[in-house]
Amino acid sequence: MSTLTIKNLHVRLENPSTTGLRAGYPSTTQAATGHGGAGNPILNGINLVVRRGQTCVLMGPNGSGKSTLGNTLLANPQYKISRGSITFGKHMLSKMKTDEIARAGVLLAFQNPQTVSGVSVTNLLTAAVRNFKGKGKDFKMADFREEIKDTANTLKISKDFLSCSLNEGFSGGEKKKMEILQLSLLPAQLIVIDEIDSGLDIDALKLVAKQISRLRARGVTLLIITHYNRILRWIKPDRVHIMHKGKIIKSGTSTLATAIEKKGYGDYIK
Ligand SMILES: Nc1ncnc2c1ncn2[C@@H]1O[C@H](COP(=O)(O)OP(=O)(O)O)[C@@H](O)[C@H]1O
Ligand SMILES: [Mg+2]
Repeated sequence: MSTLTIKNLHVRLENPSTTGLRAGYPSTTQAATGHGGAGNPILNGINLVVRRGQTCVLMGPNGSGKSTLGNTLLANPQYKISRGSITFGKHMLSKMKTDEIARAGVLLAFQNPQTVSGVSVTNLLTAAVRNFKGKGKDFKMADFREEIKDTANTLKISKDFLSCSLNEGFSGGEKKKMEILQLSLLPAQLIVIDEIDSGLDIDALKLVAKQISRLRARGVTLLIITHYNRILRWIKPDRVHIMHKGKIIKSGTSTLATAIEKKGYGDYIK
């Protein structure tokens, strides 16, 4: 397990979304209205360290650049790093492609998970796990399929969802549970979770928070992006960072998240 180090990261918009394909960025409207056009800087010098096994929370008002940071960590081609670096242990993530980053154990749960017609979560996971560890001698696909079922059970995802097209016709909450299911079953070392709590009712939120705690107990390093303090009732972070206009403007412990819940961001973003 390794430490994530982000140094003086500057990111520009390379290709505004025209298809909504940037998961985490739902529509083209802002790009079309000139907000967020190609070439516009979004991240303006992010410095962030997430030590191995730690849970960090990134908060901040809408449009601060939180999802952009998550997407940049996974080398989404819509964003271009113009300065700075991202490393994870010995891996220079800022110079790697998305599939290489995933193989290094860095995964992202999207703010707005995409629908994948004709591919079930079981198909997707079995294909992915083959890539990760399928060549290992002691890996048995039948056991893995059982593991998918067990984890789905824990998250109260019905069996039918495992074999139908991924996210097709799913509610917001069901999609979010699917994201956590996938992350739980792949050999992740660092997981970035973008707004997992939006669209979840309180029971689903509890289940998801419990599952995230299991990942944490496994030693996975976590970067949790969230608007609200809600999920932090169950997951106590080691560090909380507030982002605004593409910068981290305040860092602290979990009490910072509590203060924001009470008073909002007003004190920090004058
Ligand atoms: N793909 C994109 N196309 C157009 N504008 C974008 C895109 N991604 C980000 N932006 C712009 O960058 C800013 C930060 O967005 P985002 O990272 O989604 O913020 P957050 O996740 O904190 O709400 C916003 O002003 C948004 O309009
Ligand atoms: Mg976002």
